[in-house]
Amino acid sequence: MGGLYMANRVVEKIKKGLRGELVIPGDKSVSHRSVMFSALGDTPVRITNFLPSADCLSTVGVMRSLGAKVEMLSPTELVVTGNGLHGLKEPETLLDAGNSGTTLRLMMGMLAPQDFVSVFTGDSSLHKRPMGRVIKPLSQMGAHIVGRAGNTKLPITVVPAGKKLQGFTYDMPVASAQVKSAILLAGLFAEGTTTVVEPYQSRNHTELMLESFGVKLDYEGTAISIQAQDKLTAPEEIVVPGDISSAAFWLVAASVIPDSELLLKNVGINPTRTGILDVLNDMGADITLTNERSSGSEPVADILVRSASLHGTSFGADIMPRLVDEIPAITVAAMFAEGETVITGAGELRVKETDRIQAISDQFNKLCDCITATEDGLIIRGDSQNVWRQGTCFSYDDHRIAMTLAIAGMAGNGVEIEQPDCVAISYPSFYEEMAGLY
Ligand code: S3P
Repeated sequence: MGGLYMANRVVEKIKKGLRGELVIPGDKSVSHRSVMFSALGDTPVRITNFLPSADCLSTVGVMRSLGAKVEMLSPTELVVTGNGLHGLKEPETLLDAGNSGTTLRLMMGMLAPQDFVSVFTGDSSLHKRPMGRVIKPLSQMGAHIVGRAGNTKLPITVVPAGKKLQGFTYDMPVASAQVKSAILLAGLFAEGTTTVVEPYQSRNHTELMLESFGVKLDYEGTAISIQAQDKLTAPEEIVVPGDISSAAFWLVAASVIPDSELLLKNVGINPTRTGILDVLNDMGADITLTNERSSGSEPVADILVRSASLHGTSFGADIMPRLVDEIPAITVAAMFAEGETVITGAGELRVKETDRIQAISDQFNKLCDCITATEDGLIIRGDSQNVWRQGTCFSYDDHRIAMTLAIAGMAGNGVEIEQPDCVAISYPSFYEEMAGLY
């Protein structure tokens, strides 16, 4: 995102409880995968409740450059028709992943086995993020990938390996769904078995969706194995569930703003994503799941959240992959809770769209000075007597920092957000939904 002349956004303190219903927009992770995997089939796939956010549109652009047909029937409904598993074509232009780590990392896995050249670029944030975590294991499979900074950063070029990639077993040093997915996608084309072993289970949308495309995966403990495929059998339809990472802002806001009762409709509750529900419940939140059902291969529910008196908690590396994107929102919950919250094992936050540990402590402390950053986490001294100031805070052009500042201002004492428009990366209608609650 970015832009030098972006206007700031002022969020006033809200003077009443949050009440009513919000329909949560489509899941970002599932939207990316729905377009990527459909482009590997050879029959049309209708994708509904697609998230039309900047990140997912980066994926649409990349897949079109690779020859897939993507028709947008409406912003949330697409029909994607691929040319088969072995039908991707050499892109004539740079593949621009924009701000999206998911687009870049998964697509490196998909393109490493191809017999053509692809060159990736992205925005200034993505140029700073570590890509060696994908390039290194793909290179061990025989891929030829070169990038700046010793093959670790954009711009990145994937050249034909000259022979089939070789399946192998990869013990992942970090729990990352993006790394796992990249290796599994390369494994679709590799000789022999490709196995990834995760330190802690990360989101499994790739596995669930590959299975819905007829791919058999083998699971043993924390290891997932895949074999090369001749073709993928695409489903006729993919219904994207609502994104719990977007619901997170309202879960926290309604918990801490007195007199709230908010129904969040159509939220994905895949257990690999629901760490925030566990942590908020642990803090004393009043959250009820209703209308549990499935949306294709993903479980969904409506979530009723009411205000509650929260208390501090501690959590660490084992739950981190299940809530990694929700740490900024959880920090706000902890700022309003009674007692200390200690978050450890969150070192991955330092390499997200921005260094989120630093962003949280530098910006949220302007509103309420109660946060200490550590190397791999945060200590938050929650207290109902904490003083909330009005402040001007910087989003670092990071969508989740901007949205968390907004709910902190709403619940605290107001905020002026610099570079607010980055919310379009994952939740384009965020400010409209927020305005509707005043
Ligand atoms: C994602 C995985 C996570 C998450 C990101 C989306 C995905 O990243 O933070 O927003 O769609 O696979 P890591 O795999 O780097 O943990």
